[in-house]
Amino acid sequence: MKIAVLGYGTVGSGVVEVIRRNGDSIAKRAGQEIEVKYVLDLRDFPGDPVEKVLVHDYEVIVNDPEVGVVVEVMGGVEPAYTFVKRALLAGKSVCTSNKELVAKHGAELLEIAKQGKINFLFEASVGGGIPIIRPLNQSITADEIEEVTGILNGTTNFILTKMRDDGCDFETALKEAQSLGYAERNPQADVEGFDACRKIAILTSLAYGKHVSYEDIQTEGITKITAADIAYAKKFEMSIKLFASSRKVGDSIYALVAPKMIGVNNPLYTVNGVYNAILVHGNVLGDVMFYGSGAGKLPTASAVVSDVVDATKHKGVNIMQIWSTKKLELASNEGLVNNFFVRFPKEERKLAWDRFEILKTALLDDHDDEFAIITSPMTEKEFAERAQGMHVISCIRADVR
Ligand code: HSE
Repeated sequence: MKIAVLGYGTVGSGVVEVIRRNGDSIAKRAGQEIEVKYVLDLRDFPGDPVEKVLVHDYEVIVNDPEVGVVVEVMGGVEPAYTFVKRALLAGKSVCTSNKELVAKHGAELLEIAKQGKINFLFEASVGGGIPIIRPLNQSITADEIEEVTGILNGTTNFILTKMRDDGCDFETALKEAQSLGYAERNPQADVEGFDACRKIAILTSLAYGKHVSYEDIQTEGITKITAADIAYAKKFEMSIKLFASSRKVGDSIYALVAPKMIGVNNPLYTVNGVYNAILVHGNVLGDVMFYGSGAGKLPTASAVVSDVVDATKHKGVNIMQIWSTKKLELASNEGLVNNFFVRFPKEERKLAWDRFEILKTALLDDHDDEFAIITSPMTEKEFAERAQGMHVISCIRADVR
């Protein structure tokens, strides 16, 4: 199988390296040798062995009938979308790590692949090296999926872990993430939750077979989490994580990206640092959890190459993935039920006790003008009504089990 790799950045060079390093075992699993015939990049790489296969013009790739699989690891929607669509229309399977592309155009590209009896595969687009797309499509097929909840962004999980371990504030933890190369120089996509939003849009579309527009998902990032919030979480023996989740309750499907305070009994409590994890709840299976490296050159490349193997094994056969172009209408999150962690100034003490059923309270030595509570579970709407007119210092959804 001759393949072309679009983009020789972090993931693209990882794909070339994985195929070189594990070529023999990959060939056994794919049933034939995988050869990188072309790498497309605008740049030159003097002295790098990739020079022998480097091209600057996509036409060379799309017009070469020998290329059976195109690997798209450029990122961004354009020109990735145009290149991928043309490859599929030319009868080539495509494997991509590009969550923006998949979240926006996944349904359409899957339909083109189906018509052409080829494949559009995107294991690396969610959870980096963690297998989650293939299990959702091919393993958890006996269940009605009731919930998908993930820590889907390594950068924010690193920042929140650092804030907890060191007691530092958000800015300090972000700087450390940037200096270690985890966060982008412009880290907005990570810290505002946009990256996790695209990933849960993909998982929810696959779980329910209809297209979820990521623009419809209520998304809150971690920029407002303070060192004091984290200190309270510690007092409660809880931890704050950025969750991307979707939940089916009756006929309604809810989706939300937001920080949540969870306790030690939650299986996602121990997922720290840059690691990702995804918890899937099926109505007959119960809980199943996927854990591993959610980003990084080789873990992501491993997932991309596993798709190349799948595409090679299924030459001429479309692997069925149900994600129709019909839009899935999400329910209003007003009906979502959570506990709530809330910080109030001490003047609100009486009102807080009058209005809420309080499960836990805490005080911080260095914040003696305030207190924190964790409420009983209630809907978002009920919480907003009860807190109306009160001065709330901060509020984070919580899960007390
Ligand atoms: N910026 C992403 C993260 C990379 O931090 O998880 C993987 O999508």
